[in-house]
Amino acid sequence: MAPDKAGYSEGERTCGLIRPFSNSRIGLKPLCAAVPSERSVRVAVIGLGYVGLPLAAAVASTGANVIGIDIDLEKVKVVNTGQSPLRGHEPGLADLVKEQVSTGRLRASLEPTAASGADVVAVCVETPIDPTTHDPSYKALKPALAEIAPVLKRGALVSIESTLAPGTMEGVVRPALERGSKRKVGRDLYLVHCPERLTTGKLLHHLTELPRVLGANDAISARKALAFYARFVKAEIHSTDWTTAEVVKTAENAYWDVQIAFANEVALISEELGVDAYRVRDLVNTCPYRMMLIPGAGVGGHCIPKDSWLLVSPAVQSKPELIPTAREVNDFMPRRMARIVEEALAAAGRKIKGARVAVLGFSYRENTDDTRNSPAKTMIQELRRRGADIAIHDPFARSERGYAVLRDVKAATKGADCIALVTAHDAYRKLDLKALGRRMRHAALVDGRNLYAGSDVVKMGFVYRGIGKGQF
Ligand SMILES: NC(=O)c1ccc[n+]([C@@H]2O[C@H](COP(=O)([O-])OP(=O)(O)OC[C@H]3O[C@@H](n4cnc5c(N)ncnc54)[C@H](O)[C@@H]3O)[C@@H](O)[C@H]2O)c1
Repeated sequence: MAPDKAGYSEGERTCGLIRPFSNSRIGLKPLCAAVPSERSVRVAVIGLGYVGLPLAAAVASTGANVIGIDIDLEKVKVVNTGQSPLRGHEPGLADLVKEQVSTGRLRASLEPTAASGADVVAVCVETPIDPTTHDPSYKALKPALAEIAPVLKRGALVSIESTLAPGTMEGVVRPALERGSKRKVGRDLYLVHCPERLTTGKLLHHLTELPRVLGANDAISARKALAFYARFVKAEIHSTDWTTAEVVKTAENAYWDVQIAFANEVALISEELGVDAYRVRDLVNTCPYRMMLIPGAGVGGHCIPKDSWLLVSPAVQSKPELIPTAREVNDFMPRRMARIVEEALAAAGRKIKGARVAVLGFSYRENTDDTRNSPAKTMIQELRRRGADIAIHDPFARSERGYAVLRDVKAATKGADCIALVTAHDAYRKLDLKALGRRMRHAALVDGRNLYAGSDVVKMGFVYRGIGKGQF
């Protein structure tokens, strides 16, 4: 069949790999022929966290032989018993892990040497920032690269799925792999950056259904990676170079951060003016091309709070201002929550010093167990600083040092002076607030996620306040 105007053959058009923009630097054209029909590919996944575990299980389900490597003994043990170490609602994941471990296609190991002989090595370790300077901290990535480099076989493909600050592939990853493996990238070792886009609560769905951006600086790496990702990604895979992929990933999360900060700033203005920010948002969005996001008690998780900083990392000399300012606005929201709790307590006739505050929600995201950078932690610290006594409830998140998490919402709220709702877990939508209120010492409720209709809560005898809310 003759190629179309864009130069794609019929086969290429129907194989699902055609990109709306192609990469001029490497001149890549997607080829169905690059998708291997053989199913015995050996894959090593480094880091079995929220990204690595679903990836390992999904790849194993395509018939690949997968070894997951992690430094966390507990995770390795749990996976090898056929269970998922992740809690919360992760549709399909626990079953897939069980199935793939039972077939023997998925195993976990503490040993980096278990990656030797792998055709594909996917690196999925965490990439945090330094909490003080906000600079990228590759304290997990660098050791992971140093450990796997010596066992990489000739012709292996390494895909970095972790999120990276622009310039890291060229400045950190390539030299570390070449030094440790004594191989040359693009000649006898192949390297791509294929950042993950998934979100907790939808891990498997996002892994297979979302389009991917694939950064490669040479055509062979790109073709090998396309063949690998086409095994389980059903959406388009857009080819580009390393640095563009780094900027795309961090920019898509910084974009979200800035949009949320805008909504939060409107919420702060609305509170001051005594209007409801959620009603404001609904009306703003009646204007064409406006898509204002929802304000709330703060932004958490491993990704959004640090990816903005990765984008404006030291490699960028021009000192961006908008993105760091958005970070500041979003970081302020849990402290604003603490201030509103103090105001609600005062309206209920209670000083914050010695007051008992029941915090509903410890994970950063609804219906998950993920507490990384949770705004609940900042709010709790701020409330404790003001003298409050805290009880924390969460249906999924586990206790951490300094944060004992209760599973029983009645126990957490009994004798409390105020409820501070931080996470919109489904379980909180169904609470019998009236019954809880009767067992509280003072009935005040601060709604950080617009979960309740304020007028209903007031009718139940509560003082009701919230992020972006006027007075009730
Ligand atoms: N969580 C998400 O929703 C998400 C989404 C998109 C991108 N990302 C990015 O993906 C990367 C991983 O995120 P995550 O949420 O899976 O992190 P995670 O903390 O859940 O998992 C990382 C895992 O790597 C392991 N690890 C650390 N050093 C190791 C080493 N030397 N060898 C082997 N294992 C090692 C850790 O023990 C941990 O189990 C990050 O860069 C993150 O920004 C995460």
